[in-house]
Amino acid sequence: MSAIDVNLYGTVHGGVLMKFVDDVAGASAARHSGGTAVTAAIDEIVFLEPVRVGDLVHAYAQVNWTGSTSMEVGVRLTAERWDAVEPSPIPVATAYLVFVAIDVAGRPRQVPPVLPSDSADRRRFQEAEIRRDHRLARRAAIQKARAEHADDQE
Ligand SMILES: CC(C)(COP(=O)(O)OP(=O)(O)OC[C@H]1O[C@@H](n2cnc3c(N)ncnc32)[C@H](O)[C@@H]1OP(=O)(O)O)[C@@H](O)C(=O)NCCC(=O)NCCS
Repeated sequence: MSAIDVNLYGTVHGGVLMKFVDDVAGASAARHSGGTAVTAAIDEIVFLEPVRVGDLVHAYAQVNWTGSTSMEVGVRLTAERWDAVEPSPIPVATAYLVFVAIDVAGRPRQVPPVLPSDSADRRRFQEAEIRRDHRLARRAAIQKARAEHADDQE
């Protein structure tokens, strides 16, 4: 980690953690879909606790939900404090990203369906559908509002 990865408070920049989240989620999406997958949207990222220089950060990612060509990937970051006597991973960030599987021409391609196997996976699937519904409703509401202000040039 270099000096530009750290802010004035001696903790790791959110953007550095976002890149880590995107990389890990991308690997999960590529593995699930069996090929290239691109980030279409970052639905949510929450920083729960600061990450300090020297902390050991772990990332866990899984495909929570699949559509036809898109996937929602959930990511959880934990940190072990470098100066803790006992390893004590604490949750430091959670994120939900949408990836789209693409072919060599960059066109969306079908992904295998995710099959929730236990109640935790079924909960994640259900929560991903809630986020998707909200995303689509929000987009529709904004498009409607923009149409009502179609005369505005800025
Ligand atoms: C993501 C991308 C491939 C989608 O292409 P597109 O032609 O708009 O795709 P479509 O409208 O046919 O939609 C394909 C799927 O993507 C989903 N999608 C597209 N835009 C989305 C968005 N902003 N948020 C969430 N999902 C989105 C659609 O819901 C659809 O899902 P489904 O097949 O599961 O129903 C294209 O916008 C792209 O290449 N974007 C740039 C990606 C990139 O460079 N990322 C950063 C580096 S990895």
